Amino acid sequence: MADFIGAVDQGTTSTRFMVFDHDGAEVARHQLEHEQLLPRAGWVEHNPLEIWDRTQTVIGSALTKAGLSGTDLAAIGITNQRETAIVWDRRTGRPFHNAIVWQDTRTDSIAKSLDADERGQTIRHKAGLPPATYFSAGKVQWMLDNVDGVREAAERGDALFGTPDTWLVWNLTGGPRGGLHVTDVTNASRTMLMDLTTLDWDDELLGFFGIPREMLPEISASSHATAYGTTSGERGTAQVPITGVLGDQQAATVGQVCFEPGEAKNTYGTGNFLLLNTGTELVRSENGLLTTVAYQLGDADPVYALEGSIAVTGSAVQWLRDQLGIISGASEIEGLAKQVEDTGGVYFVPAFSGLFAPYWRSDARGAIVGLSRFNTNAHLARATLEAICYQSRDVADAMTADSGVRLETLKVDGGVTANRLCMQLQADILGVPVSKPVVAETTALGAAYAAGLATGFWSGTDELRSKWAEAERWEPTWSDEQREVGYAGWLKAVERTLDWVE
Ligand code: G3P
Repeated sequence: MADFIGAVDQGTTSTRFMVFDHDGAEVARHQLEHEQLLPRAGWVEHNPLEIWDRTQTVIGSALTKAGLSGTDLAAIGITNQRETAIVWDRRTGRPFHNAIVWQDTRTDSIAKSLDADERGQTIRHKAGLPPATYFSAGKVQWMLDNVDGVREAAERGDALFGTPDTWLVWNLTGGPRGGLHVTDVTNASRTMLMDLTTLDWDDELLGFFGIPREMLPEISASSHATAYGTTSGERGTAQVPITGVLGDQQAATVGQVCFEPGEAKNTYGTGNFLLLNTGTELVRSENGLLTTVAYQLGDADPVYALEGSIAVTGSAVQWLRDQLGIISGASEIEGLAKQVEDTGGVYFVPAFSGLFAPYWRSDARGAIVGLSRFNTNAHLARATLEAICYQSRDVADAMTADSGVRLETLKVDGGVTANRLCMQLQADILGVPVSKPVVAETTALGAAYAAGLATGFWSGTDELRSKWAEAERWEPTWSDEQREVGYAGWLKAVERTLDWVE
């Protein structure tokens, strides 16, 4: 039996391939960025052909670095930026348009019109999502309505829709020469088109967006021995089974072994995504969270999650670097923020594309409030780190209100967790310990776990649980009063950002 599992992590800013051994330890990785196309304010696109090209390169390079070949891989898992929509021609493999990325807000009027009548409630009830620009269906409708030839091709059955997982599986399994058109339940649960109880595309929801069912991929379990086929083995490469597919935040949930109801993880990337496992019970949020599928392993029942999605966290640090120039690298923010003991009364709400959970306000825009002449770059840097943590407090409070579960520890992962000051502030602002695992690449690891479970490379979730180990922990140090006064100021600052855009 081959000794390793590979995982493609196709993210918002880059694509990486990682190889893991039986202990879940990293053996190799290669990562490449792709271009962020910003044709207009609020529009964010990626070139799907560039992403496919990068994917092939990172797989080849990671294997070469480790002196391995495809035959050393027992299976491959795929995880991806979710919601991002690609529509391509099944006959040629050419995309009709660039991918419309999850952060893109061009579909605001589609989302608003759905929410103006009872269709909004139907979407909330069936799909577990509030109508918002974030999800895929409006993006597909936009391409059907605005890109030449797409509607006609869709009616002929020649236009295929997929999130990046589907695009990559189709290409990896043969593309126009017989690629599989398939997605998994977690990705499908981010479209606004899948009924969470039937786990199938829903005709009423499809009708809201005018999307023909023929465009849509088959929905399968996140871990499955056959549904995703094998790599095509072109140009002499090996045929490797693809046996795990899941959205990146769900993959991180699996990588953090949050397999029991009540277990949660928070991933700190360009945005933050806090997911709480609610077991086989589907909990409908009344506090602005999403209900989503966490994972489905083979024939087992799906496991659901409540999710708090925050659009701008790590990307606010990039903004300080790229637009304000007050740091020259993201890692510098910690040193700058440490020059002061507190934010000097400043709050920064980075609502650059409106606010996601729990507010769902596309009319919000960013604000820095509480400034006096005393304030410096250091206060703004510290306020940025606090904003990451206060936004996580917003969604953690909503989770407690929805589920009755109060977090006892917060498991964290993602790039921003390298910032120890930020993690200490998170423990202080939440009032619970924050815990980081030894393997910080939980997203790729989760995709590898899903793939390895399907082939028997790992025996089950108990074996995976035994591999999780804590690397670092931060305990709260603020008094309750300090915590609540600080949070009250944050809520006041958030109010200032609403109703900004007509
Ligand atoms: O829902 C969006 C999320 O999947 C993006 O994650 O890590 O690619 O920014 P990331």
